[in-house]
Amino acid sequence: MKKASLIINRNYTAGAAEKAIFSSFIEHMGRAVYGGIYDPQHETANGDGFRTDIIGAIRELGVDKIRYPGGNFVSGYDWKDGIGARGQRPTRLNHAWQQTETNEVGIDEFMRFLKETGCEPIMAVNLGTGTPAAAAELVEYCNLDTDTVWAETRRRNGVKKPYKIKNWCLGNEMDGEWQIGHRSADEYGRLATEAAKLMRWTDPDISLVLCGSSSSAMPTYPEWDRVVLEHAYEYVDYISLHKYYEFPDRDKSKVSDFLASYLDFDSFISAIASTIEYVKCKKRSKRSVKLSVDEWNVWHTGLRKPDAEKWALSTAREENTYTMLDTLVFSTLICTLLNHAEHVKVACLAQLINVLAPIMTDTKGRMLKQSIFYPFMLASKYCTGTVMNTVMECASFDSVYGAAQEICTSAVLDAEGILTLMAVSLTDQDTALNLNFERFGTPKLFEHTYLHADNLTTANTFDTPSNILPKTLPTPSSTDSILLKAHSVNFLRFRID
Ligand code: AHR
Repeated sequence: MKKASLIINRNYTAGAAEKAIFSSFIEHMGRAVYGGIYDPQHETANGDGFRTDIIGAIRELGVDKIRYPGGNFVSGYDWKDGIGARGQRPTRLNHAWQQTETNEVGIDEFMRFLKETGCEPIMAVNLGTGTPAAAAELVEYCNLDTDTVWAETRRRNGVKKPYKIKNWCLGNEMDGEWQIGHRSADEYGRLATEAAKLMRWTDPDISLVLCGSSSSAMPTYPEWDRVVLEHAYEYVDYISLHKYYEFPDRDKSKVSDFLASYLDFDSFISAIASTIEYVKCKKRSKRSVKLSVDEWNVWHTGLRKPDAEKWALSTAREENTYTMLDTLVFSTLICTLLNHAEHVKVACLAQLINVLAPIMTDTKGRMLKQSIFYPFMLASKYCTGTVMNTVMECASFDSVYGAAQEICTSAVLDAEGILTLMAVSLTDQDTALNLNFERFGTPKLFEHTYLHADNLTTANTFDTPSNILPKTLPTPSSTDSILLKAHSVNFLRFRID
């Protein structure tokens, strides 16, 4: 049995974890919309053609906001194609994903779907082929009650009251050569500033997300972030970060490096937070721009299906089956987001349905909750509030990112006085975790929920959907030492006096 020790002092806090850290993302890509949330033939479909079993699962997952409609898709998307009478909407090429877009689902359908899920939108505008004017017109369509053409068009389309969408992304991954309308940092910084001005003049209450680096592996990182912030600092509220992890070099033997991904995520977030600080200082600004990690997940890109059917409406793309190993890495990424709650105010798990997703559907009409569904669900349920700054003493392992601790944690004290310790064990042995609470009185452990599988390759499948499910342990009489099973994700809940 290994030993580890954690100090949690009530006076040492790391920031406020808001519900928006538990947001997600649906893109017009693969089978996310068509054949995912939208399937009029499905037995659970509502009047709009949306699957109510999926709506129920999204509610259970505890998603706060959903980013839409892309992703790479948005950089070629004309939002005006997706409004008005369905029969008159154009069918177009979805260039980003080489699919066909019928525009059966557009902004009004998506907003009706969202209402059923209880989530708020994060709307992305097209700054690839789109213009600042078209972006501002979309804000008018969604948010205004004026007697002007786009607000009037929305009313004519049956939506009397404006949606009042608060959060908006100024394009997507504009640093990437793969992006439709990819630009240099100076070009994008200027364009985003002009779009931001016009969108804010349309509705001053909106929040805006500037495109930061689409990965810490980009050759332009972190210079891109400095340059675009210097252009747009006074006009935006957030800068985005995107990050997906897989085995380095797609080499499956590099398990320790994959398990240590959270170290890299931590450095990426810290570097962008520091870049914001630098630009704020340089500009003598009073404004505090925050981080929106609006795409994050495990993504095994080596599993891409090269035979995805070109120009199909709905074809499988980037459908990853998540294993216990992936679930460990995934959970450490949640801990890292929480531990950076001072700066990270929004984070979107990418994505939500079928594409890199916790929720899958198959051609038989079934729905599956992948293993990553559960740590997200539990963290969303339990981990909002004050994040504590903790000190962990435990063994480390070597990795490409440096020495990684075997136990990755985050501790969050909620408004009801419940402290949740999320603890991810990355070692193949059980660990006795010694807990030292300081200035907390005598916390009482009342729930220990965990996820574990004996084999790291185990996954939930449509035929065996219960291989990895949360289990609850009987709570020990003494909470001085807690048993963390090898390769497990734990949620320990303490009532504070
Ligand atoms: O989430 C899948 C894709 O990954 C998104 O469209 C893009 O923004 C990112 O590269």
